[in-house]
Formats: sequence, structure tokens, C-alpha cells
Amino acid sequence: MRGYLLTAFIISLWMESSCGIDIQLVPSHPLINKSVTLNVRGITGTVRAFRWYFGSNPDASNQILHYNPNSNPPQTPGDQYFHRAHGLANGSLHISDLVRTDQGNYMVMILARDIERVTVYLPIYESVTKPVIRCSTPRPKVNETVSLTCETANSESILWSKDSNSLHSRVDLSPDNRTAILRNIILSDTGEYQCEAKNAVSRSVSDIFTLIVNYNEPISDNCAASMAGIICGTIIGIVLIICTTFLLFKRYILPMREAQQEQPTERQDSYRIYYNVFATTMAQPAKEELPYMGLEYPTQDTYSELSHQ
Ligand SMILES: *[C@@H]1O[C@H](CO)[C@@H](O)[C@H](O)[C@H]1NC(C)=O
Ligand SMILES: *[C@@H]1O[C@H](CO)[C@@H](O)[C@H](O)[C@H]1NC(C)=O
Ligand SMILES: *[C@@H]1O[C@H](CO)[C@@H](O)[C@H](O)[C@H]1NC(C)=O
Ligand SMILES: *[C@@H]1O[C@H](CO)[C@@H](O)[C@H](O)[C@H]1NC(C)=O
Repeated sequence: MRGYLLTAFIISLWMESSCGIDIQLVPSHPLINKSVTLNVRGITGTVRAFRWYFGSNPDASNQILHYNPNSNPPQTPGDQYFHRAHGLANGSLHISDLVRTDQGNYMVMILARDIERVTVYLPIYESVTKPVIRCSTPRPKVNETVSLTCETANSESILWSKDSNSLHSRVDLSPDNRTAILRNIILSDTGEYQCEAKNAVSRSVSDIFTLIVNYNEPISDNCAASMAGIICGTIIGIVLIICTTFLLFKRYILPMREAQQEQPTERQDSYRIYYNVFATTMAQPAKEELPYMGLEYPTQDTYSELSHQ
């Protein structure tokens, strides 16, 4: 039976009228992860059997499935069968959870009143991602060249705008409009830039990118001068602080330290003097005045020196 059908298919291929049936994609722009129906229209008579193929060559190695409503089950997998595909009784093919690689040509061969075949191209669409504008130069200056790039995925076309108007004609666009090149920029190139990415199923606009063109020499000179001023000022300030600290240290802290260190020494000295005098007194008990004087004076001196400081 199957052999007979196949022979009938092939013989009839030469006699088929190719304008009878067509395939409509439902939806017309199939989205990744969604499903699609390859809807066969214009069939005359009852569908008796059909085969779906990858590509446009009705070879057994390309066959996805064979469908015969009188068989049980009606669907027989082919070499290229995948479980997301299934035939419908009216000849159509339903594919669920679409992936990128499902994109391509599909062919159906249908046996109804006649044998007919038709091929359709299945595109797979994906929404564009929100574009992001990147700038080649962080602080662009007058006369420099700046390129703005619109980074997005799945877009078919890109449109630029500046301050909600179209770009100046001086701006060079890459063939895909992805990159806008502004040569010898002038102050009036300053503005709010946006890019819009579009494809058949979606569109998305970037956030505003504000380009600020800086005027070259005076600004940078002023900047350099003020920087030099700040640096010099800081250095002078530090030197002043160091000098002042040193002077203060020398004038007040140092003498105080010395005083603290000297006090015990002087006491020791006075003690020594006293001791010496005492020793002398002990050695020479004959003279009475000397020991008294000796005891009096150094102690008084020491005292007065101490009270002085
Ligand atoms: C499609 O589905 C996969 C897995 O479920 C997911 O990772 C991916 O983000 C989806 N893509 C889109 C465009 O929704
Ligand atoms: C074929 O059957 C499917 C599912 O029942 C239906 O959605 C589709 O519209 C039918 N196609 C035609 C051409 O009638
Ligand atoms: C590039 O932008 C111009 C307008 O600036 C537009 O007319 C054209 O269609 C765009 N081309 C692409 C491929 O996005
Ligand atoms: C920019 O270039 C032009 C000539 O090319 C020159 O006259 C002008 O002084 C330049 N301006 C700056 C700010 O460098």
C-alpha cells in the first residue's frame, strides 16, 4: 500500500498543478519559544494522505512525518521527525516551542483529489533587546572624532535621533546604522542621542545618551592652572605646618623636656654638694663657719634655680 502510494506520488509529481494549494503561516511572524501552524489552504477534495519534509527536496532522508487519517495512529515519524512537530488532519503542520534552528524551508506533498506539493519558508523572530548607546570617547573635545554605537540584538533596522530630531547630515552611519561617526565635532554636537531598534515583531528605544562636547584649550588650560595652583598651595601649606610645628617644638616642648630631665640632676648635684660639704665638715671639725656656709649656699642656689624655672 505504502509502496503504491509513494509511486503514485512520484509519478503524479510531473502532472501536479502547483498553483492549487498554498501554505499560510499562523501567526505570520512566528516567535521563538512560541508555536506556529503551517496551514495548508486550497485543497480540493478529501485529504487522503500527506508527507512533510525539511527543505524542498522530497527525499526520504528529509521526511519529517507521514500522515494517513485511515491508519492508527495516523502519524508515522520520518527520518527528520522531532517531537515538537505534529500533523493535523487537514494537511497542516503544527510546531511548538520554536527554536532558531527551526527556521528554513518546509515542503508538503498532499494526496487529495490530486497530488500536490508546495514549499514555504519559515522564519523565526525574536524580539529586539533594549538598545544601549556606547561612546568611543569619555570626554570628547572639539575637533575630535566620536563614534556612538547602538548595541542591540535581533534588530533589522536602527534609527538614530538627536534631541528628538533626525541626525545632522554630517554624521556618518555604518551600513547597518549600528555606528554613528561624528568627525571633527563642534560644540553644537552636544545633545541627547537615542537609537531605536526595530524588527517585524518588536521595537525598542534606548535610554537618552547625553553627549557633551568640551571646548578644547581654555578649559583644559584653566583646569591645568587650577590643578597646579591646588598642588602648589597644598605643598606650601604642608611646609608651613612642618616649620611651625618645628618652631613650636623648639620654643616650648624642648625646653620643657630639658627641664624635666634637669630637675633630678640638680637635686643630685645639690645632694652631692651637701654630701661633699658634710664630708668635709666631718673631716675638719675645727672650723664651724665653713660647713654652715657650704650647706647654705648650694642649697639656696639650687632652690633659686629651681624656682626660676
Ligand atoms: C526561550 O526559552 C528558553 C528556555 O525556556 C529561555 O531560556 C529563553 O530565554 C526564552 N527566549 C525568549 C526570547 O523568550
Ligand atoms: C486545519 O486544522 C487546524 C486545527 O484544527 C486549524 O487551526 C486550521 O485552521 C485548519 N486549516 C484549514 C485550512 O482549514
Ligand atoms: C538607517 O537610517 C536611515 C535614516 O537615518 C534609514 O532611512 C535607513 O532605513 C536605516 N537603515 C537601516 C539598515 O537601519
Ligand atoms: C579645530 O580645527 C580648526 C581647523 O581644522 C581650527 O581652526 C580650530 O582652531 C580648532 N579648534 C580647536 C578648539 O582645536
